[in-house]
Amino acid sequence: MTIDQPGDVIALVNSASGVDLFISVVSDFDLFTKLAGRAGTVAEVAELLEIDERAADVSLTYLTALGLLERLPGGSVRPTPAAAAYLTEGAELDVRAYAAAQKGRPGCRDAAQVLRTGKPAPWESADDGGDWLARMSSTGGFATVFSAAMDARGRYLGPALGDALRDLRPQRVLDVGGSSGIYACSLVEVLPETTAAVLDMPSVVDFSRSSIAARGLADRVDVIAGDMFAELPTGFDVHLFSNVLHDWSSADIERLAAASFAALPPGGVLVDHDMHIDDDKTGPLRQAEFSVRMMLMTAGRCYSAAELTEIFRTVGFAEVTHKPTTAGYSVVVARKPA
Ligand SMILES: C[S@@+](CC[C@H](N)C(=O)[O-])C[C@H]1O[C@@H](n2cnc3c(N)ncnc32)[C@H](O)[C@@H]1O
Repeated sequence: MTIDQPGDVIALVNSASGVDLFISVVSDFDLFTKLAGRAGTVAEVAELLEIDERAADVSLTYLTALGLLERLPGGSVRPTPAAAAYLTEGAELDVRAYAAAQKGRPGCRDAAQVLRTGKPAPWESADDGGDWLARMSSTGGFATVFSAAMDARGRYLGPALGDALRDLRPQRVLDVGGSSGIYACSLVEVLPETTAAVLDMPSVVDFSRSSIAARGLADRVDVIAGDMFAELPTGFDVHLFSNVLHDWSSADIERLAAASFAALPPGGVLVDHDMHIDDDKTGPLRQAEFSVRMMLMTAGRCYSAAELTEIFRTVGFAEVTHKPTTAGYSVVVARKPA
């Protein structure tokens, strides 16, 4: 991989967790030896390795994207010839020992722990400051560091999101979990008729307000301190969830989608902006790597458009569409019936 665009830098950073997971899967769990000569579903592999099912699901997508597993019709996986030749006990060119030499590194130990328990790893290895969500709610300044990271990524991704939503002609957008407000600001800059509000946790909104003011957009982008799981405010025709749903389980996503459906007017839309894995869970590699990062650090993972469509339809949305934006990102747009 060479660095040509800001998205390549973001992808490079996201890829680090995948290597940690790979080393652990090979060295702590010996997946390819245990799966040699057979196929397994996510549930069967989770049972075989005695690992969490969400972690197994994400790992199998990642290993398939790497070309080490083959996805069969029906969704089960089996090792590819490369995995059989290089990562299986008894193979002449077995190089597992090379990976095993690294398995004691903190990131690999964290990955092993998440695979076993399904619980998010601490944000910093060997640190008792908690996972990202615990740190976000605390007063230690982490919310500012994290929100600055979100802002840096959004400066690049925001304009493409605005272009993708132009046809919706949004009047008033609620940017749920909107962090610095970078996406709300991008939207109102691209769409002159649009105004917006950012909803985020009390520990974040001071940063949101100062970022929006620094962009000169405080008259068009409001800030609301609140809990998106409590209730969403009415008065918005578009709800944007950007890089938010990947932090949560599918049950929590259903709660958020139901809250969105209840608060939107007839004809209103929910927009999910994120990296989405392919419906058949074979990749793409960039999105699969990001999913590993999310699986290790949060209660979530990256979802496919098909998985989200099913959830959105369950709570009442219709007309669900999927459209690429930039750098491996895309939007899933779900409309409430008019
Ligand atoms: C991964 S960040 C995404 C930020 C931004 N939307 C983006 O695309 O970069 C998730 C955001 O959700 C916010 N969040 C988490 N739990 C929340 C809650 N219960 N209510 C409101 N916001 C929440 C976090 O504070 C954080 O800003």
